[in-house]
Amino acid sequence: MRIVVLISGRGSNLQAILAAQLPAQIVAVISNKPDATGLQVAQAAGIATQALAHTTFASRAEFDKAMIQIIDGYQPDLVVLAGYMRILTDEFVNHYQGRLLNIHPSLLPSYAGLNTHQRALDDGVKVHGCTVHFVTPTLDHGPIIIQAAVPVLNNDNADSLSERVLCMEHQIYPTAIHWFIGGRIQLAADGKVNLLNNNGSEQTVFYTEP
Ligand code: GAR
Repeated sequence: MRIVVLISGRGSNLQAILAAQLPAQIVAVISNKPDATGLQVAQAAGIATQALAHTTFASRAEFDKAMIQIIDGYQPDLVVLAGYMRILTDEFVNHYQGRLLNIHPSLLPSYAGLNTHQRALDDGVKVHGCTVHFVTPTLDHGPIIIQAAVPVLNNDNADSLSERVLCMEHQIYPTAIHWFIGGRIQLAADGKVNLLNNNGSEQTVFYTEP
């Protein structure tokens, strides 16, 4: 299986995916930000990298079209968004339907968008976390594959909370990708995700901070 990873920044999820040594080939890492440090992570691992600055395009539609061309040049079976901070056009999402995954730092459908940790703290929620989901045209929305819950501690600030959520991100993203590679993720007719175990029956998995 061929995987293309899209990033915009430091690439810690990319690093976790690489460290998991999944039975698949990461064929390219592509960033919309030429200075993303995650590109160096990929290069150090001997993976092809490409940067396409969205700022050089007149519209989102033109940028996404150019991205599709670059990505498709690598013939991916799966496209993984790992801190790729772009709102996607419907055309892009539909083009990769069923093979486009995202990780988001909240328990979706709560806290789509930005500043998830501060917003969770401001609301006084006691449980926060992260989600891996199939991407649909609605921002940070789509069938949920796996979530991990993290308790919100009395003395947490956005930095401490984000650090602990990130640790869980690094566990659940490689896990979800591994399931995808193994054909264990089934998108049901009702739009929900079923996880199949080795006998083809259903299984439920829920992660919490150790
Ligand atoms: C991660 O926390 C990821 O969940 C988040 O960006 C960070 C990227 O970190 N993604 C989103 O907010 C997408 N809506 P990384 O570059 O170190 O993997």
